[in-house]
This record gives sequence, structure tokens and C-alpha cells, in this order.
Amino acid sequence: MNTQELMNTARKMVADDKGLLAMDESNPTCNKRFARLGIPQTVEARRTWRELIVTTPGLGESISGAILYDETIRQKKKDGTPFIKVITDAGIIPGIKVDTGAKDLAGHPGEKITEGLDGLRDRLAEYFQMGARFAKWRAVIAVGDGIPSRGCIEANAQALARYAALCQEAELVPVVEPEVLMDGEHSLDRCREVTEEVLRTVFTQLYTQRVTLEGTILKPNMVLPGLTCPEQESVDEVADATVRCLLRAVPAAVPGIAFLSGGQPSELASARLNAMNIRFKSRLPWALAFSFARAIQQPALEIWQGKESNVLAAQQALSHRARCNRAARRGEYDDAMETTSTSIPQLTKPAA
Ligand code: 13P
Repeated sequence: MNTQELMNTARKMVADDKGLLAMDESNPTCNKRFARLGIPQTVEARRTWRELIVTTPGLGESISGAILYDETIRQKKKDGTPFIKVITDAGIIPGIKVDTGAKDLAGHPGEKITEGLDGLRDRLAEYFQMGARFAKWRAVIAVGDGIPSRGCIEANAQALARYAALCQEAELVPVVEPEVLMDGEHSLDRCREVTEEVLRTVFTQLYTQRVTLEGTILKPNMVLPGLTCPEQESVDEVADATVRCLLRAVPAAVPGIAFLSGGQPSELASARLNAMNIRFKSRLPWALAFSFARAIQQPALEIWQGKESNVLAAQQALSHRARCNRAARRGEYDDAMETTSTSIPQLTKPAA
């Protein structure tokens, strides 16, 4: 294992106020999002959407790394250029989702365990050969009556740690994603309590499995009230609760924390990240960045709707969200960015 190389890559992933673009939806998830907008759920439609994303002019100015899916890492532009070359040429580090999804956890109704460890060593070696330099594994933790259980938290934390160790052996930076879900009526305080327990357990397991934290990126949820909780705290309250929780549970050796968006509205995700950086950036041991899928892609997908004539406008929307989130890393995002037309770059190059 080349520890120095891992550390360099991890640092690059959160350098220059940039963040990660998650475009690693599995085929069923991507199809579900397409179906809602009446877009055909075909290999070619998914390829076309991903080509739109990777050819967005200037994407590398805000995005440091892109997380791909097994289907996507093997795909090419219409002109035959592999996506992985397009991404690398744009100065973006290619990454790959390597878990095989969350399945019911035996004996634990309502809880999931993420699978994908079998054969992982060989798959990682292949992805490294293809040009990937980091990987992602997502564990999901539901909050509800009597859950999460210790059994669920420990099983998922151990799987994350075994995945992370295998990644580092293969010279890929592990993005460790334990997601406490937003679904439910639970309070912000309950989310904070669960998130802290999950993170503490994950870092204990990472230590046990001898994972080098300096070559690891954490991808957690923000600390939020459940979607149907009657009390919805302000942006600043969410920022405070999230940073306090992370300070208690995330070792200073971790170079960066890149949040998932988890279904938050795009603008709110930017505002919350911005508030964290305004209020705490100068006092934190790690960078606070983003690794959003929906909060970057969704507005663009709604504009695109599968139509060639909408490609340019969709790319403008994608580029805009990426820029807003880069501004949020600096604590320079504000509502005006969403309303002034000058804030949206006018892309002139066609999506070749
Ligand atoms: P969202 O930002 O849409 O939550 O997706 C992030 C992700 O990569 C989920 O695994």
C-alpha cells in the first residue's frame, strides 16, 4: 500500500473548496428517477444523461471527483471517448461505488445491511486498472421505534471498515458513507444521538481493521430533524448540531468530511453547508465539503427530461449547483446566487 499516494488523493478530493459529484445511482435508482419524469429507462438514456453530466463545461472548477457506477465507468461518449478519459481530462478524479446495495438484515425488522464484500478485492483491482482512485460504500441506518439496533450499527460499521481496508490495500481512497436516513418523525436531537453513536462505532471499527484515517474521506448525513417531524430547525441550528456531533466523533486525522444530501432540497443543502463553514471553518481539523447526488443533479434532470434540445440548459443548472456548493465551502453562498441571472454561467460550448 502506498500510504503517501492515498493521503495525497484524499487531500486532493477536498482541496480548493471543491467537492464530489455523486453520479453513481444504481440502475434501479436511476430508472426510478427517470420514470418520475417520463424519461425512458434504458441503457442508452442512462448513458446520454451521464454524458451530459461529464461534458458540462467548467465542471472541474467546482468538482474534484466524480463517483461512477459499474455501468457508467465502462461507458463512452457518443464519439467513442471513454467517460473516464473525459473526467480525467477535466481534472476530475474518477471514483466508483463498490457496494452492491442494502438488503434486509436478518433478525432485525426494518433494518438493512449493505452487501458487496465477496469478490471485492478483485473488483477493486479492476477499477484501479481502469483509472479509479477512490471508492464509495453506503450503509443505511433507519431511525424509528426501537431502531437502530446495536446489531445493525455494528454489522454495518464492520462492513464499512472491511471495505475501507480492502480499498487502501488496492490504493483506492475509501469514501466511508454511513447514512442516517431522514425518513421519519424523529427530532433533530434524536438524529444527533444516532449519528454520534454510528460514527463512534464506525471509527472504532476503522481502527480495528487498521484503516489509515489520513487516506480516508467520511461521507455522513447532516444532523437533521426527520422529514415529518413537526419541528424543523433553522439553517444555523442544523449547522451547529451537525458540527458539534462531528467534533465529538470524527478524529482530527481525517482530511475531509463530504456530506451526502439525502433528499434535502438543493438550495437548503447549500445553505446548511455554507452556515457550517461560516460559523466553524477556522476552528475545524477537517475540511467540510460535499458529495451530493440529488442536490446537484436533480434540478438539471428536471430540465433535461430526456430531450436533446434541453441539454445546454440542463448543463447550466448542473454547473450552477456545483458552483453554489463550492461557494458554500467558502462561506460565500447566499440566496442572491439563486436569483441573479449573472450567477448562472452561460455555457456556449455544445455538449460534444
Ligand atoms: P444524495 O446526495 O442524493 O443523498 O446521494 C449521495 C449518495 O452518494 C448516496 O449514496
